[in-house]
Amino acid sequence: MKYVDSILDAIGNTPLVKLNKVVPSDSADVFVKAEYLNPSGSLKDRIALKMIRDAEARGDLKPGYTIIEASTGNTGTALSFVGTQLGYNVEIYMPEGMTRERIRIMENYGAKVHELSMEASDEGSVAGAEVEIGTRIKCLEVERTKPKVWWARQFSNPSNTEAHLQTGREILEQLNGKVDAFVASIGVGGTLYGVAKALKSVLPDVKIFGLEPASARYALSEGYTRVPGTGDDVCGGIIEEMLNSGIVDKVVKVSNKDAIAMSDRLVMEEGLFCGISSGANVFYACKVAKELGPGKRVATVLPDHRDRYLSEKKYTT
Ligand SMILES: Cc1ncc(COP(=O)(O)O)c(C=O)c1O
Repeated sequence: MKYVDSILDAIGNTPLVKLNKVVPSDSADVFVKAEYLNPSGSLKDRIALKMIRDAEARGDLKPGYTIIEASTGNTGTALSFVGTQLGYNVEIYMPEGMTRERIRIMENYGAKVHELSMEASDEGSVAGAEVEIGTRIKCLEVERTKPKVWWARQFSNPSNTEAHLQTGREILEQLNGKVDAFVASIGVGGTLYGVAKALKSVLPDVKIFGLEPASARYALSEGYTRVPGTGDDVCGGIIEEMLNSGIVDKVVKVSNKDAIAMSDRLVMEEGLFCGISSGANVFYACKVAKELGPGKRVATVLPDHRDRYLSEKKYTT
């Protein structure tokens, strides 16, 4: 690669890395897509760019507009990065209590961050949806009352899933079309749904596993597809469509303890400076690899960078 015309052209096309040390013996090979190497440090750069470009093409987002989103971290950061680069104002709504560095990263890009006091559940980094309901309600109110506002709505925006069709195509190309299983933690579901669609379109037998935190209050593995009592305006969306489509073979729970322990191993043993959901993904990918056995291939993603967790006490060792 010589040079790119803009940092936005450096989004995607991330390396796929074969794990060498953390995979148990007599297992399938495990490959990780290093999404934390995207410019703002997560796979959400892909969806930020696609959601914004598609909204511009539809005429929903125009010069002078403010982009808003409810986010506890990565989507807020990615929209702050891409949105300000494309000349928009960006305002992110998050529950109080998130780490200072997450807020500072968004502010550094030029976004305005609103911290709202609300009862946030302690879902850890693997989730997202549940802690974001209150801030989504706020976005809805802002969208309805203020002019020149575009709410990205990552939880139901089809451009989110479409952005990850490309992630899936890259995995297929990097593995010469040979993938037996794909594993990914579910936040709003775009990663798992988009990659699963791309893989299943050419490999109908590929197994798709979704992960959720063991502490999830309305667990997908127990049949919930949305937080009870919430309407389409703030809930449902991609997760509901994905689970109803039958594309996911199984949703399983992973504990924060297992996720954190594996993320520490990924840093120390494999040199991959990734976050906690990466640990969850690899923890479960190794289980699948053991079950499938040698000669098979399991792929997963490392969604975000470890930099945003460094001051969180429960994530330090
Ligand atoms: C760290 C991290 N891992 C995984 C995910 C899951 O991605 P998705 O929202 O596409 O399901 C998210 C997003 O919520 C995330 O921020």
